[in-house]
Amino acid sequence: MLHAAYSPRLMRDPKIGEILVQPDDLKQRVRTLGEQVTAEYADRDLLLVGVLKGAVFFLADLMRHIEIPCEVDFMAVSSYGSATDSSGVVRILKDLDTAIEDRHVLIVEDIVDSGLTLSYLLKNLRTRRPASLEVCALMQKLDVQQVPLDIKYKAFEIPPVFVVGYGLDYGERFRNLPFVGTLKPEVYRDAVT
Ligand code: IMP
Ligand code: MG
Repeated sequence: MLHAAYSPRLMRDPKIGEILVQPDDLKQRVRTLGEQVTAEYADRDLLLVGVLKGAVFFLADLMRHIEIPCEVDFMAVSSYGSATDSSGVVRILKDLDTAIEDRHVLIVEDIVDSGLTLSYLLKNLRTRRPASLEVCALMQKLDVQQVPLDIKYKAFEIPPVFVVGYGLDYGERFRNLPFVGTLKPEVYRDAVT
């Protein structure tokens, strides 16, 4: 059960279906991942690359559990497609501020669905010759990946349903939910996308 202190008004939103990941589970897993990154990058020059906007919440929490010097930069990409499906055609809306040559880069992404966005990002960043390039994803949807991807750090695997909360949006809404939950299918079925 979700604790009553968590945004009771948002929780009652009739568009939200079921809660898939509770706030406490998010906290615990993010802490563990932070500890893992701390240990594995102990003597390396770590640059976290957050993918805007969905990964912002995850990245901010993760970074507080990384206890080695590190830096952060952001990219914004948009994949052409409807609000709930990505097409694989990716456009860079905001590029990194920093050069990544010879640096240890960790991409921080909210969710891997088809994997097409991440696959494009990896290909793009690899051409800039980082010392290493790995991925830390909050969630991965099972059985829907269209390209093979090596995701080194992953917090949760979820069923292939559309989810919102903890940074993830539907039409820019619901990012502020403290949990990850499903959206009732009729919400996006009826939407004009
Ligand atoms: P992919 O290219 O199909 O892997 O989709 C990746 C991007 O689509 C993610 O970075 C999200 O921004 C968005 N996305 C995929 N699934 C969801 C979801 O269930 N909720 C919200 N955004 C999603
Ligand atoms: Mg995203």
